[in-house]
Parts: sequence; C-alpha cells; structure tokens
Amino acid sequence: MMVSRRKMIALVGGGAVLAAGSAAGGFVATRRPNSALTPWESAGDYDDPRMAALSWAILAPNPHNRQPWQAELVGSDRVRIWREEARNLPETDPFDRQMTIGMGCFLELFRQAAADKGLVAEMTLFPDGEGGPVADIALVSGGKPDPLFQFVPSRHTNRLAYESRLPSNAAMAVIAPEASEIITDTERVDALRKLTWRAMHIEMTTHRTHMESINLTRLGKSEIEANPDGISVRGAMQEALILAGMITREGQADPESSEFQQTAKFIRSAQDSTPAYATVKTTGNTRPDQIEAGRLWLRLHLAATSEGISMQPLSQALQEYPEQSELYAQVHELLAEPGETVQMLGRVGYAAAVGPSPRWPLESRIIG
Ligand SMILES: Cc1cc2nc3c(=O)[nH]c(=O)nc-3n(C[C@H](O)[C@H](O)[C@H](O)COP(=O)(O)O)c2cc1C
Repeated sequence: MMVSRRKMIALVGGGAVLAAGSAAGGFVATRRPNSALTPWESAGDYDDPRMAALSWAILAPNPHNRQPWQAELVGSDRVRIWREEARNLPETDPFDRQMTIGMGCFLELFRQAAADKGLVAEMTLFPDGEGGPVADIALVSGGKPDPLFQFVPSRHTNRLAYESRLPSNAAMAVIAPEASEIITDTERVDALRKLTWRAMHIEMTTHRTHMESINLTRLGKSEIEANPDGISVRGAMQEALILAGMITREGQADPESSEFQQTAKFIRSAQDSTPAYATVKTTGNTRPDQIEAGRLWLRLHLAATSEGISMQPLSQALQEYPEQSELYAQVHELLAEPGETVQMLGRVGYAAAVGPSPRWPLESRIIG
C-alpha cells in the first residue's frame, strides 16, 4: 500500500478513525476494537440502579483516558467512589488536579444517569478527607431527568481540524451559559493558538512528559483491546502502517525522527484551525472546586454536542510542571482574574464526526 508520509502522519496525529474506502471495507470492519467499545453499547443495561448509573458514568471524559475511577457497592442502595492512584499521570498532572476533574465528569454523569431513572444521587464528597474515597453516594427517589443526558452516547473528544466558521448564534446561546467564557475575538483566539501550540511543543520535547504519553499509546486493535485506555491509534489504514513499521513507538518517541516531526506538524495544523475556545474557571482550587470544574466541563461538552459542535481540551498550558510555568502564567493572565484558576481550556468548532474511545468494562472497575 502506497501512503505518503504526510498522509500517514495525519492519521497518527489525529487519532482519527479512517472512513473506509471501498476496497478496505472488509479489513476496516475486522479492525474495530469491538470489545473495547462494548461499554458504549451496554450502558444502562443493569437491573441494580447503581450499576446502571455507573455503566453510564464510565463513559466520562478523563485525562489520557486513564479511567481512574473505582466503585464499591455498599449495602443495597449506596456506592462509594474511589480514585485509583496507580492511574495517576505524575509528570503532566503532578498534583492530580486533572485526575480530580475527570472524577467530577464521572460524578456528574452518574448523577444524570440516576436522575434519568427518577433517582437523586445524594453525594458526600471526600467523606474521609483528601486521601480517602472521592464520594459516598446514596440513591433516593425523586430525581428529575436532565435534558443533556440524551447526548452522552454522541459526546466524543474531537482532535481533527475544525472549520473556520464560528458556532452559530443559536449554538452560542446554548453553550455559552455552560462555560466560564467562550473566546471568539480574533486577537485572543490568535494568542491562544500560539500559546497552546508552544505548550504542546514543550510537552512533546520534554522527555519525561512526552514518554508519559508514549507509554500509554496503544498501537492498533490488539493493544487497544488488551488495555482499553490511554491514547489509541486505530483504524484500518493506521493498522496497515503499524504492520509496515511506518508507525512505531520509537519513531513517535524520538523528537529527531521524521515520524515525530510530521506528527507535531499535524497536531499543530489541527490546533491552528481552532475558531473558538472555551474555559471553565474556579475562584478556589480545592478538591471540591476541581470536582465542580469536571461537572461543568461535562455539561459544557454535552451542550456543545447537542448543537453539533465539537470540542477538545487542550490542557498543556494548564499543567503544573516547571517547564510549563511561564505559559501557565500567560494563560492565566490572558483568561483569568487574579486568584482564579483556569481548570479547563478547550477548542470549540464544527468538524467531521469521530467515534467513541475505548473503555474498560464496568465489572473491572468494581472493588470490594
Ligand atoms: C481534565 C482533562 C484534561 C484533558 N486534556 C486533554 C488534552 O490536553 N488533549 C486532548 O486531546 N484531550 C484531553 N482530554 C480528553 C481526554 O483525552 C478524553 O476525554 C479521553 O481520551 C476519553 O475520550 P472521550 O472524551 O472521547 O470519551 C482531557 C480530558 C480531561 C477530563
């Protein structure tokens, strides 16, 4: 198969699922990592209302798709939620701030799923303080369905290039109230394109932070099905290139390789296509504030999904390791008042649709 290097890298960098060409159709069908996607199909298929809500909650967005949540069923109507520290990202998320945001996304999704069944999820956050469980939840009757819940199956992080047009006024009216801010003015959009790329470049050229991603990269169906988390490179074309030795872990890891440089170029051009950005900010930066930021982000992404708008977090400039400190200060200067924390920053715009990302089966996340 003849594939140009440029095209090949576009496939890797985007994490895109390639639309099947007619000749490749059969191969495409066999390369879908079916078992890793089953949780999207079986969400809600449980009699125990706690398991039903959990089966939706595991579809939450979360950093590097680590899926750090664990659930312990307590008695007949309670559930205790833990965060598995072995799934931390110590290089890029040294204070577990982003992991905690992911837990907030999970808890909001749990709440919505329970509400859809007429239940209220009464949550006590960090009942034993910071080192213990993230939440104790009791399900009681009286929940009111949330109109955003229906968009959960179609919410996916979209890393492709976005169209240049801004979200329509009608879409803005739906998504803006869910964000701290939607940035559309040319001057700040331009500043953010530059800043987010510089931050990405720092992450990719700082060995230990880049290796954190490389070590979590799953190349192709069999690696994805063996470990349905992390960063997946999938699709028929990508698999062919992996087999041909044109997509390699070593090449992706080495900043001197042309494979790496083309990937960087592709990521940059996707990021540079961004017409608008969204933020979620908090005035404090405690664990409960971070949980709240996750809840808000999940709601924002669902609201965008309801309007056919794509989103992708771009977290590099918000990360708290020394090499990013200058950009961390700049992004706060640009987007926040003194004392505020920008918890989430993401791209917003119209793009081709992408499919779901892998998940561990719910049963593997149940403990106790
Ligand atoms: C706190 C947080 C930070 C994230 N940062 C990034 C990021 O910098 N770049 C990116 O492409 N995705 C980022 N994501 C999205 C996750 O990679 C994504 O949610 C995960 O891979 C699961 O995929 P899904 O959202 O399509 O279900 C972030 C998500 C969260 C919750």
